[in-house]
Amino acid sequence: MDVEECMRCRRSIRKYLSTPLSMDQIGRVLDAGRLAPTAGNLQNYKVILVRERAGIQKIAEAALQQYWIETAPVILAIVAEPQRARQFYGERGEKAYSIMNCATIAENMALTAHAIGLATCMVGAFDQDMMRAAVGAPDYVNVELILTLGYPDEKVPVPERYKLTDMVFLERWGARIANLDTSTRVWSTTVQKNLEKGKQLFRRGSKTLFQQIQDRTLDVHDKVKQSLKQRKR
Ligand SMILES: Cc1cc2nc3c(=O)[nH]c(=O)nc-3n(C[C@H](O)[C@H](O)[C@H](O)COP(=O)(O)O)c2cc1C
Repeated sequence: MDVEECMRCRRSIRKYLSTPLSMDQIGRVLDAGRLAPTAGNLQNYKVILVRERAGIQKIAEAALQQYWIETAPVILAIVAEPQRARQFYGERGEKAYSIMNCATIAENMALTAHAIGLATCMVGAFDQDMMRAAVGAPDYVNVELILTLGYPDEKVPVPERYKLTDMVFLERWGARIANLDTSTRVWSTTVQKNLEKGKQLFRRGSKTLFQQIQDRTLDVHDKVKQSLKQRKR
């Protein structure tokens, strides 16, 4: 599966099979996080791997009682160490880069999980103090994202995304680019629409062709009948 396909068909999954995951599978997902870019390559984060049921239950409780989390056999808690980013980059390092780093890590992990047949869901809605307590983290770090991990036990519809034309501006805020979907390499939505149109036209076209053949056959049939009649006379 290439990266583009992986991004297109990954979905957030909120129901998992209880099938345990091997350390090899978990390791591949963790390693994808390790490869993610971080500001200044500081790598000021830790990932807490949680597999024990009691720990996962506490996490679900801390995540504003999102109990579906308990179906996941594995949880990865992505934790920022903001002080280190503050030392190097001041307030922006502490308040922004640390969080951005965790997001890049989570995305790498989510895509890799999907590529190896597993599913994830990022969870950002939780009480920070409760979550720290659930994973035994000290006050000077921040749990930024929880990633559920396991084999999917549901199929979910593809959520709508805005079209590129609606979300990209050219050179300055508010300046839309007309037909961006067709003028860039991003053909997906346009191609899909055109494919549908093409199929409909083909169906219509083939119906006409069929009618044409039918009409022609009737024509020939009539002519044969007439010539047979003439011969009898
Ligand atoms: C930063 C962030 C926080 C999220 N927090 C939650 C959450 O607390 N609970 C949840 O069920 N989904 C959460 N999600 C998942 C989103 O709802 C999901 O990505 C979105 O609906 C798009 O669906 P998709 O991932 O299948 O494309 C979060 C996603 C992100 C990126």
